[in-house]
Amino acid sequence: MGLNLFLVPFIVIFLFFPMTYSEDGVVKQALVRFMDQLAVGNPQRNAWYWGWNLASDPCTSIWQGVTCSDEGYVKVIVLHESSLSGTIDFASLCKAKSLQILSLNRNSLHGFISKDIGACKSLTHLYLSENNFSGDLPSSLGGLENLHWLHVANNKFTGELPNMVHVPGLISLLAENNKFSV
Ligand SMILES: *[C@@H]1O[C@H](CO)[C@@H](O)[C@H](O)[C@H]1NC(C)=O
Repeated sequence: MGLNLFLVPFIVIFLFFPMTYSEDGVVKQALVRFMDQLAVGNPQRNAWYWGWNLASDPCTSIWQGVTCSDEGYVKVIVLHESSLSGTIDFASLCKAKSLQILSLNRNSLHGFISKDIGACKSLTHLYLSENNFSGDLPSSLGGLENLHWLHVANNKFTGELPNMVHVPGLISLLAENNKFSV
């Protein structure tokens, strides 16, 4: 009985001051790593340049291009036409489990889209058009069940388009001007 009374203040605190959420340190580190690799061709514009750094918070500070959910998770990254010239580190990026919109159209990004993109389960919009991406699109792209918009036009992608049969909500697929085999 005494023990129960002892717990009351803690229960009250828990009820009236619920945890405020935000991306944890691991996610922040991963996002900064992702951003640093977008600046490979232009080291002056590293993650710090864009406001992305471990000393701040992606949701309460200004991280260029980032919008968060009300709960404090990274939901949107929009960096189109931003003169970015590196590669996308999807293994790092997809640590941000709430990411829904990634817009990187019209940069000079290159390299492959790694199968790690399959971990970006919340993605609804993926815009990678007008870059210099190459290689085959990974089949894990076809496992992104929430994807509605997939734009990969005007790159140097090869191989076959992945099977999108498990992506019933796909509304818009732009893939022209690549080197896909038909
Ligand atoms: C793609 O790469 C080629 C050759 O390296 C370069 O000339 C071209 O400007 C690049 N295009 C973009 C959009 O980055």
